[in-house]
Amino acid sequence: MDSQQLPRHYTPLHPDLYTYHEEFIEPRLLEALREGTQDAILSVMDTPLFGVFKFACLRRDFCDRLIQELDHLERSGVEMARPNSMNRYGAILDTCGFKSLMDEICARIISPIADILFSSLPSQAPSREAEDGVGKGKGLGLRYHHAFTVRYSPTQDKKLDKHVDNADITLNVCLGREGFKGGHLLFQGCKDSAVVRLPKQLHRYAAEEQEHRVDHEIGTALIHLGSHIHQAVKLEEGERINLIVWSKTLPFE
Ligand SMILES: [Fe+2]
Repeated sequence: MDSQQLPRHYTPLHPDLYTYHEEFIEPRLLEALREGTQDAILSVMDTPLFGVFKFACLRRDFCDRLIQELDHLERSGVEMARPNSMNRYGAILDTCGFKSLMDEICARIISPIADILFSSLPSQAPSREAEDGVGKGKGLGLRYHHAFTVRYSPTQDKKLDKHVDNADITLNVCLGREGFKGGHLLFQGCKDSAVVRLPKQLHRYAAEEQEHRVDHEIGTALIHLGSHIHQAVKLEEGERINLIVWSKTLPFE
C-alpha cells in the first residue's frame, strides 16, 4: 500500500486492492495480453464505432470492492482531491493510496493495448529509447497517466457536456453501481491533437456530425483517443461510477 498517501489512522476495508493482482483483470483479456498480438487483442474487443474499442476489462468482484473501498475512504473523512473542473465528485486515485495499483494497470493493461490498437499514430514525443535507453521505441510512449473516478447521480453531477479529454489515450471503465439507468456516452468524431497525429481514416471520421451511442456495462472498458469528441448524457436513476485513466506521451501541464 502507498502509505505515504493515506493517513496513518485509516484502516482499509480491502487492503489487497492497493496492490496489483491479476485476479482483478478479466481472464480473457490477460490471455490476449500474454499472446500480445494484434489478432489476440482484437479478438477480445468490440468496435462500437470507428476508433472506439470496448472490452471486458475488470472483474465484477474487483469493481464492487473498489467502490466499497472508495465509500469507506469517504466515510472515514480521508481528504480526496477531486478529479477536474468537469467532475465535482469522484477522486484522483493517486492521492488516496492507489498510485501503485494504477501504475501497474497502466503498464500492464493500458499501454500494451494502446500500442497495438493505435500503433498507426506516430508520436511526436521523444521515444523512451532515445531518452533513457530502454524499450524498443515501437509503442506510443504513453508515460504519463492521470487516474481518477467520476460519479454521476440525479442529485450530483448528472451529465457531462461535449468535450475532448486532456489525454492522448483515454480508458474509461464502468465500476457500477448496479441498477443505474441512463448516462450513456455519445461520440462524435475527432478533433485533431497537438501531440498525436491522427491517421487519415480518422480525419474522414472527424468530418462526421453523426452521434454514436455507447452504453456502459459494469467491468467493461472503452479505450479511445482523448481527442475523440464525447459527452455523457443525463443519468436518470441510481449512481454511475467510472474509473478514467488519461494517458499522455508528454507530461500533464
Ligand atoms: Fe471525457
